[in-house]
Amino acid sequence: MVSETLRHSPPGWLFTRSTTRDVEFGGRRLPRGTTVLYSPYLLHHAPASFPDPERFRPERWLSGEDTGRPYDAMVPFSAGSRKCLGDSFAMAQSTVAVATIARRWRLRHPPGPVAPVRPAVTLGPRSLRMICEPRGGGLGRQSRGAGDNLVDHT
Ligand code: HEM
Repeated sequence: MVSETLRHSPPGWLFTRSTTRDVEFGGRRLPRGTTVLYSPYLLHHAPASFPDPERFRPERWLSGEDTGRPYDAMVPFSAGSRKCLGDSFAMAQSTVAVATIARRWRLRHPPGPVAPVRPAVTLGPRSLRMICEPRGGGLGRQSRGAGDNLVDHT
């Protein structure tokens, strides 16, 4: 679930690098000091690496499914010497957070259109209203009234 979220909608969707010397890259000669833009979003939506890329499909990360793509096709934390320092921590924290919340609550969108993700410094919904319903077994807090379980993340 966390991997597929980071693949489908990577918060960091566009980055730059500067060449520190003259290099040949992608069949082009780039002089020292050239700014190169690369997009994890576009890499994550390349059908050659991720078939049916627009579909949110957590199963694609099950063992046995993720063979055949280059190891650096998935770069939500970037790559190389400036790669995210907190990648392992972020994955562990997100997994624990999702598991803890989903154990107690079922989250769903209110009826109506869902706001599309919008690119800014990060990529994400600028407003996300969700309805939280306690799961069975009495683990969740009971609703006290209309709107009590509506979470508005803006
Ligand atoms: C899902 C959560 C996160 C995502 C998607 C993410 C993504 C990224 C990306 C893409 C970069 C590289 C930026 C670039 O190349 O210009 C980066 C850098 C960095 N991240 Fe994260 N990050 C996350 C969480 C964290 C956490 C939890 C920490 C610290 C505990 C952290 C610390 C850093 C640091 C210090 C850098 C700079 C590394 C450097 O320039 O040498 N990140 N992050």
